[in-house]
Amino acid sequence: MTRFSVLILAWYAENARTLPWRGHSDPYAVWVSEIMLQQTRVETVIPYFERWLKLFPTVNALAEASEQNVLSAWEGLGYYSRARNLKRAARIVVDQHGGKLPRTTEALSKLPGIGRYTAAAIASIAFGADEATLDGNLRRVLARVFDVQEPADSPRGGKILWALSADHLPVGRAGDYNQALMDLGATICLPKKPQCALCPVHSLCLASARGVQAQRPVLKPKTAVPTRIHAAAVVRKNGRVLLSKRDNKGLLGGLWEFPNIQIENRSGRGFARAIKKTYGLKVRKGTLLGEIHHAYTHFRLIEFVYFCEALELPKVTRLRWMRISDLANYPMGKVDRQIARKLSG
Ligand code: ADE
Repeated sequence: MTRFSVLILAWYAENARTLPWRGHSDPYAVWVSEIMLQQTRVETVIPYFERWLKLFPTVNALAEASEQNVLSAWEGLGYYSRARNLKRAARIVVDQHGGKLPRTTEALSKLPGIGRYTAAAIASIAFGADEATLDGNLRRVLARVFDVQEPADSPRGGKILWALSADHLPVGRAGDYNQALMDLGATICLPKKPQCALCPVHSLCLASARGVQAQRPVLKPKTAVPTRIHAAAVVRKNGRVLLSKRDNKGLLGGLWEFPNIQIENRSGRGFARAIKKTYGLKVRKGTLLGEIHHAYTHFRLIEFVYFCEALELPKVTRLRWMRISDLANYPMGKVDRQIARKLSG
């Protein structure tokens, strides 16, 4: 074992966070937690994880569940392809692996939604395999302790960091080592204000010795996030409202939404024509219900929401009249859920 891993494991023995997926002997629970934790904070994940295991306690239960129920259980976590992939992968595990999650990173990586990081995290945590991994927390800790100057999000920087993670992996203790680095990154080696005085590897940390911890990891300059303006139509009749289901692929795939389109500017001009073109739905625009802002990863959204009157409905359409009192039962993204809440008020 290297000095680094000795110190890291000793710190973890005293300071491991108590998390509901830890000490779980069921690999399925570890798998679910790792998918939920991709790009999502531990505190956000905990209640979702606990609810999920009650709703879908086994791989079999998840494989048999409807996609709509799975999306509803995921609602609010974002990146919904994770939920769709998890369900697809559960079907494959049942059909091709006898209901048991495969144990090797190679076999795990073939399942939808499991990349290099997640395969190694599951193999090490659930099966004790000697697999190194690298997520955002590990990347930051390693880039600081070993003062990696190559951009961490470049192929060369990535290679250096994966190699560092593997070089220090203590044989037989990979699950603890990986989770120790995740915890250290989440609680002490923080992105903005690292708590170096509390750090178990402060004595080894090159970035801290050189006073450059705030500049590590080095990252490539970010491109500016564009803003898109959308307008949405709330069309009500007899206690119902028109909703449309998004395609099963891509952003917010499989979720329900109020008919909406991208518009050029805030004036809302051209809205009715664009709604007609996209949905075949002829509307008269009424009063403004509200303006909703949301930050997605690659763009910011401003959505103007208008009450509308339906003048003509298309014969063949993906629009559905849904009871306003039932809206909670249809999975939606955050923007549409805000509109739904305003209506059921
Ligand atoms: N982030 C991703 N996986 C994690 C885990 N197993 N424990 C803590 N944080 C994590």
